[in-house]
Amino acid sequence: MPNFIVTPWEVSGEIDYDKIIQEFGIEPIDDKLISRIKEITSEIHPFLTRKIFFAHRDLNWILDEYQKGNPFYLYTGRGPSGDIHLGHIMPWIFTKWLQDKFNVELWFQLTDDEKFLFNQSLSLEDAYKYSYDNALDIIALGFDPKNTFIFSDIDLAGTLYRNALKIAKKITFSTIKATFGLNNSANIGQIFYTSIQTVPAIIKSLIEGRNVPCIIPHAVDQDPHFRLSRDVLPKLGYYKPASIQCMFLPSLQQGGKMSASMKHTAIFTKDTPDIVKKKVNNAFTGGQASAKIQRELGGNPSICSVYKYHFMFFTLDNDEIKIIHSRCTGGDLLCGECKNNLIQKINKFLLKHQEQREKAKDIIENYLLKEKVDLKSIIKEKMEKSN
Ligand code: TYM
Repeated sequence: MPNFIVTPWEVSGEIDYDKIIQEFGIEPIDDKLISRIKEITSEIHPFLTRKIFFAHRDLNWILDEYQKGNPFYLYTGRGPSGDIHLGHIMPWIFTKWLQDKFNVELWFQLTDDEKFLFNQSLSLEDAYKYSYDNALDIIALGFDPKNTFIFSDIDLAGTLYRNALKIAKKITFSTIKATFGLNNSANIGQIFYTSIQTVPAIIKSLIEGRNVPCIIPHAVDQDPHFRLSRDVLPKLGYYKPASIQCMFLPSLQQGGKMSASMKHTAIFTKDTPDIVKKKVNNAFTGGQASAKIQRELGGNPSICSVYKYHFMFFTLDNDEIKIIHSRCTGGDLLCGECKNNLIQKINKFLLKHQEQREKAKDIIENYLLKEKVDLKSIIKEKMEKSN
């Protein structure tokens, strides 16, 4: 049995991504596929060359269709249960890169319904509020407003429900139990929920009345949902959605992913420079017990969360990361200097992000999709007409 857990609602332990590839039945992203992408995009994102986006489903098919003149659209999402941390942003930065390189639409789902159903202490009203608060972080990353549609499930309930019904009818309770580990104490909304997360994978096909390829960038925890989508959608006459999947930005402590429920070991987009400094200074490192020993023996980047933050997010320049690695293992770079370097990079990133997040408040309406069903005014109008 693996000593880690990866489901959409729980990620813990030391994750073995090779095992995940086997167990989930996803394909590794190899150098051949990376070269194929590069032929189209001319440059390649370090998240690919570093194998942070490490797995996929049907990416070759998506590229085949694209090259035949049948472009895809992007679909991704967020479960709005609190503030955004750096881990969430990783797949979104990559999604933006894909949007820019392929010039395609992005459909962005905010699953306030999911978070209400799965989080016992969250009210529906608060989940809905977080949808719009989190949308500011998404917009701050610079998605193209002409090509980006952001919606809360509550606000698009009509379209989602109408289509989720057809999906739900094809999924049994025993499949839900086996896929997500839900048991008889799950509430009935939780059992139904995955059918709502599947709908955006066909939303362009619904709108256009023809099948449109869809690819979903996400971290590997969301794969169980889309495994089901891929099983059900062909039965309804649609394409299987493709996916491109990343690893987790880890927690600042040892093991596990960066998680909003462990506030001291995650960096949030709203954190101040002082908070960032404190969190990084308390991080788990691969350093030795003393500076003297570290100078003699060197540090161990392979277990160091500070090094992982450099490698996965903040030091994407290849020469620079090599220098950090060799200075660390050679005993020349001590943890204090390495942490300070990271603190500066995180704070520079957050300063810009926070500015963009403020500006997003003025342009949010350019991105949002809502189905307006105002029953009060419809009834009032009807009464006025009949008088
Ligand atoms: P949520 O809000 O848990 O996460 C949003 C996105 O962030 C990814 N993620 C991470 N990536 C890297 N490092 C981490 N530490 C980390 N933690 C989370 C998630 O995989 C996700 O891509 N049910 C979904 C919302 C959703 C969705 C989608 C996500 C609806 N439709 C389509 C992806 C694609 C959720 O609660 O995500």
